[in-house]
Amino acid sequence: MCGIIGYVGPKQATPLLIEGLRRMEYRGYDSAGVALYDGEALETRRAAGKIVRLESVLAADPVDGMIGIGHTRWATHGPPTERNAHPHLSADGTVAVVHNGIIENASTLRGALRELGYEFRSDTDTEVISHLVQELYDGSLEEAVIHALRKIEGTYGIAVMSSRDPDKIVAARKGSPLLIGVGDGENFLASDASAILAHTRQVVYLDDGDVAVIERDGYRVIDINAIPQPRVVDRIDWDLAEIERGGYAHFMLKEIFEQPQAIENTMRGRLILEDGTAKLGGINLSHEQLLGIDNIIITACGTSWHSALIGELMIEELARIPVEVEYASEFRYRNPIVTDRTLCIVMSQSGETADTLAAMREAKRRGARTLGLVNVVGSTIAREDDGGVYLHAGPEIGVASTKAFTSQVVALALFTLKLARKRDLSVQRGREIAQALHELPAMIQRVLDDAPKVERLATEFAQTSNFLYLGRGYNFPAALEGALKLKEISYIHAEGYPAAEMKHGPIALIDEKMPVVFIAPHDSVFDKVVSNIQEVKARSGKTIVITSRDEPALEGLVDFEIRIPETVDMLMPILASVPLQLLAYYIAVQRGAHVDQPRNLAKSVTVE
Ligand code: AGP
Repeated sequence: MCGIIGYVGPKQATPLLIEGLRRMEYRGYDSAGVALYDGEALETRRAAGKIVRLESVLAADPVDGMIGIGHTRWATHGPPTERNAHPHLSADGTVAVVHNGIIENASTLRGALRELGYEFRSDTDTEVISHLVQELYDGSLEEAVIHALRKIEGTYGIAVMSSRDPDKIVAARKGSPLLIGVGDGENFLASDASAILAHTRQVVYLDDGDVAVIERDGYRVIDINAIPQPRVVDRIDWDLAEIERGGYAHFMLKEIFEQPQAIENTMRGRLILEDGTAKLGGINLSHEQLLGIDNIIITACGTSWHSALIGELMIEELARIPVEVEYASEFRYRNPIVTDRTLCIVMSQSGETADTLAAMREAKRRGARTLGLVNVVGSTIAREDDGGVYLHAGPEIGVASTKAFTSQVVALALFTLKLARKRDLSVQRGREIAQALHELPAMIQRVLDDAPKVERLATEFAQTSNFLYLGRGYNFPAALEGALKLKEISYIHAEGYPAAEMKHGPIALIDEKMPVVFIAPHDSVFDKVVSNIQEVKARSGKTIVITSRDEPALEGLVDFEIRIPETVDMLMPILASVPLQLLAYYIAVQRGAHVDQPRNLAKSVTVE
């Protein structure tokens, strides 16, 4: 979703701001803009659409300055036009503001400001902040911002500049991430570490309630009462290469191919083969607390919710603890049964998804312990949970989640092993699963080696309008995930169902034009799935079957086959998901879709 960048230092700010905005393009946006102080006044340049259009505006009308802020906007209040793009100037042009989040009392503030004579030039909630800061300015930008924040309700990550106090950027955070990039004689502000990684690895993550004053030679963090807040400097330990495409046509393809390494990293130092268990240092749960868990709630959105469904099956099968999987957006608005013996597992690649964060806070309020399974180090969920397991999958830039999904399932398998071995799981069974996990990266590589076959298959279906994905048991969530991947990036309508559920409705859709993807490896429900394949064939549907060996039972039923290796049932959805990711990817490419930045989608959904 929206991205914020800021720079103050000895260099020309425009190229640095544009570079930072480009690095955040993956988050999803529909307009962009910058504001700089040129030595006399604030100058803004904005454009609807992609950053390349903003660059054209800047080429036609360049702006100099060594301090500036920039923004990519994902429209919430008002359409994605130039007039709604950030930065927004105050009425007298002395204040410029960029903002992520939503100001909930914007219409009340708008009314009050109108009475004072302010005219509004956009449909955004953000514009009220710039006018408020102008109105409240009395010699110090940070004081004006603090006074304005006292009047604001809602969520924000903001960056503010003023030509009346022109050597600083004032930033504030409540519910929308921000960090300071600490340089040598220069400093940065960003909502996403990838925006500044080319210039510094030293970062200060801001907490909710923080106000930061960023100048060329230093920075200060205070709270809304102007009381200094001590904040540590963290070091980002990933490389620029990890957020670049490295020869791949798209980030999504790169990330699909990174999966053997990504899950190897998720397991590194954690899997204990000889004991059939896992060591998870950060979970902050004692032996007694692990034994004392009565029930588990896993909460998440989207792809992370699909991995949670696999986690539910694993934990119930092996650890015998009741598990409920909840959409985070639903969990917070009902009255869930949570006790102090409930463990709430919070799944999120970004660690910033607004619904998931709110669900975690709600679970905490109700007395549950929370455990975050998060990829982005230092993200809000990772900092607020009671304990956590980082995925270590590396930065995921493609909007469609791939390696984070398989790493989540692996992290859940590790947690299941730990929990189950403390309860009833035998050491032999634990070892069998641990060994299967150990062998998984090489198996994924074998599936990836068959990518050209999947690419050929994609040509058959590039013009199709609908798809069904069916699987049972552990592979039902993989069917949901396969359908989501296709929808997201190719805009083909696709649905995932438990295979046997098809006859209760979706079977009405089957005809010779309907491709049905079956996930049918040789597992405990294979024979059942074969019956479902027969039902589709009997109605002339086209079958694409993902299976794991030569199966006489499948003879005459398969139009297109994708072969995957065999592993224990609980890890099969990982192997099955890889060709489904590839299928979605190649179909999208053949349809000319914008794979890494699909329309209307954002990488991290930071609004409710
Ligand atoms: C995945 O392909 C999606 N783009 C989306 O469903 C995503 O998984 C969801 O928004 C949750 O994100 P998170 O894992 O960062 O919380």
